[in-house]
Amino acid sequence: MKTILVTGSAGFIGSNLVKRLFKDMQEGTIVGIDNMNAYYDVSLKEYRLKELETLHSQLTLNSPLSTINYHFVKGSIADRELINKLFEEYHFDIVVNLAAQAGVRYSIENPDVYIESNIIGFYNILEACRHHPVEHLVYASSSSVYGGNKKIPFSTDDRVDNPVSLYAATKKSNELMAHCYSKLYNIPSTGLRFFTVYGPAGRPDMAYFGFTNKLLKGETIQIFNYGNCRRDFTYVDDIVEGIVRVMKKAPASPHPSPKGKGDRGVHTADPMMYGKLKERAEEMRKNPTEAESVLWNALRDNGLGVKFRQQHIIEDFIVDFYCNEYKVTVEIDGKYHDRPEQKKSDEERTARLNELGYTELRFTNEEVFHDLDNILKKIKTFCSGTPSPSGEGRGEAGTPLLQEGSEEAPYAVYNIGGGQPENLLDFVNILQEELLRAGVLPQDYDFDAHKQLVPMQPGDVPVTYADSSALERDFGFTPKITLREGLRKFAEWYKEYYGS
Ligand SMILES: NC(=O)c1ccc[n+]([C@@H]2O[C@H](COP(=O)([O-])OP(=O)(O)OC[C@H]3O[C@@H](n4cnc5c(N)ncnc54)[C@H](O)[C@@H]3O)[C@@H](O)[C@H]2O)c1
Repeated sequence: MKTILVTGSAGFIGSNLVKRLFKDMQEGTIVGIDNMNAYYDVSLKEYRLKELETLHSQLTLNSPLSTINYHFVKGSIADRELINKLFEEYHFDIVVNLAAQAGVRYSIENPDVYIESNIIGFYNILEACRHHPVEHLVYASSSSVYGGNKKIPFSTDDRVDNPVSLYAATKKSNELMAHCYSKLYNIPSTGLRFFTVYGPAGRPDMAYFGFTNKLLKGETIQIFNYGNCRRDFTYVDDIVEGIVRVMKKAPASPHPSPKGKGDRGVHTADPMMYGKLKERAEEMRKNPTEAESVLWNALRDNGLGVKFRQQHIIEDFIVDFYCNEYKVTVEIDGKYHDRPEQKKSDEERTARLNELGYTELRFTNEEVFHDLDNILKKIKTFCSGTPSPSGEGRGEAGTPLLQEGSEEAPYAVYNIGGGQPENLLDFVNILQEELLRAGVLPQDYDFDAHKQLVPMQPGDVPVTYADSSALERDFGFTPKITLREGLRKFAEWYKEYYGS
């Protein structure tokens, strides 16, 4: 039973991903977040959200046993407090970060929003994954990181140090930031460099959509580089298929010791057992004992809430409080802890945790109620890295789990493209034919009168073509939808949506 966060869920790719998750998942929780910004027509985002709501209610109606929870939150990933709150509340297993300010040209006039969403927003997601460990963080990068690279096809082994737009620079920065967090905090992350994604209810700022709007209004479309551009177009269902496959398989962690959900595979050999433990942990989190509530509130009041998570699973134990950063667990002895069987299991857990490299701090209910300051002092001492009298402290404050020079990070970046670069003129011809077929434009439409061949625009790249062989090798993924099939679906949707 997974809990998944999809950021940018009202966006083109995000909404299609949520749709697909509704189909694939038997149970679990999907949380979507989007700030619904007006970069392009907001009603399109609202339409996508409405579709998701309808699909979700149909799911519940058609199969009353379906236990897929879906929540949409309107808000920004740049809002640190909101992001922390969501991670604290839901304890996500998988995070797919698609929220971003997209568009190359828009970044020339509006640089601020790129820094806010793509840099600060992504940083907030990374920080939240650091403090609330996840199994896998998958995030959108872009083919634009290849800048003006000449070598074709673009390979993830190529140097990408010469971005030609701020948008590209933010996407490349995301990859660097993710690498750093993967390495330092053992956060399994995969970046996906998307190549021109298209499809129904797509982005109006993209060429195929913009061309259609213009042709319909009787305006002239401009075809850059005299049509001699080649692009790797990827139909949205193919992209979603790729994302879904990638989500399920996080890059291998070089650190099999439990430092968070990223290593869940070694927490328990039995997935059934894990499911039960997770349910139990959630139940315990919802119904804390009085002592647990008192300690949790005190941790939060003292700024430690962000470091700790409640009821964390390590192998087949549930620990009361857990801090990833310092590999420490906090246990509160309840009223049954004097019973022999409880005592035995406590001892077993303590011994196993020690073997795994954790320090277990244990306190009684009594101590929590009457000596809270002392408990906090001990926890703070531990987390500040100053060795406590018992020698429990560990390193400098904020010491990462993995040190520079240690093994490789659980980190990967893949290209995900259509697999076949298409000439822009051929693309426009197929689009024309499909717009006629779907009845978007009249049969006698004079295309030649509405087409203008113009030179290249600054910042644009003549050829973008992905080498997606690594994705095929590691995930068996190859795009399936031809350009004609994809543009047909777009044209049919356009006709239905705009009713032209
Ligand atoms: N569509 C493509 O061809 C393409 C190509 C390369 C990369 N990408 C990347 O894929 C991702 C998804 O792209 P898309 O085509 O679906 O774009 P999109 O604009 O339709 O979706 C992005 C969504 O994120 C939301 N958003 C933006 N800033 C936000 C913030 N601060 N907080 C919360 N939500 C925010 C927007 O409202 C939007 O709904 C983006 O990261 C984009 O950069 C897309």
